[in-house]
Amino acid sequence: MSETLKVAMPKGRIYKKAANLFRAAGLPIPTEVDETRKLVIALPELDMEFILAKPVDVPTYVEYGAADIGIVGKDVLMEENRDVYELLDLGIAKCRMSVIGLPNWQPGIQQRVATKYPNVASQYFREQGQQVEVIKLNGSIELAPLIGLADRIVDMVETGQTLKENGLVEMNQIFEITSRLIANRVSYRMKNGPIQSLCDRLQKAIAAEV
Ligand code: PRP
Repeated sequence: MSETLKVAMPKGRIYKKAANLFRAAGLPIPTEVDETRKLVIALPELDMEFILAKPVDVPTYVEYGAADIGIVGKDVLMEENRDVYELLDLGIAKCRMSVIGLPNWQPGIQQRVATKYPNVASQYFREQGQQVEVIKLNGSIELAPLIGLADRIVDMVETGQTLKENGLVEMNQIFEITSRLIANRVSYRMKNGPIQSLCDRLQKAIAAEV
């Protein structure tokens, strides 16, 4: 097995924070990578290859070994429940998973919850002993209670701005979210040297930033 580390990086809101953490850890990711539309980027001077994936797919690439390691939000990890090692809490992209509704919400006979995270939502309400129908949506979840598709939603809250602008309130927090470093189980053994050394560098950078 080559020692080049294949790293699944999430495109979108986490990418820049993750790339900057790598830079702080002494791994100079060229700034062109931040803007590129290329999906596979060789970084020979770092013995790495970046795979720019849709965030929700990062654990899948890592589980199947198409990537050795990856960076992914705890929200996606909980929802996807893939067979990967969670190595490190990177402390970036902090937010929370919450139950959200209209301020005048009352429990009705039929309760419908809209979410991008059906597994997380189903498990949460099962544990709470609440019978709800979970409706999967792919985005703009806050629309659902506003137009009567669902009476509550389960979604990520970061600044709270989306809730505020749509007159919604956070009712319960389910868990805290940060980005995590994950690894394929076989890669973790076969490429333990480079993975461990990356973890050490990242850990130092995280400690320095706190
Ligand atoms: C996420 C999430 C909320 C919003 C929370 O949506 O689903 O809608 O961000 O952020 P805030 O608390 O800072 O307002 P995203 O922007 O990823 O888009 P989406 O609606 O397409 O999922």
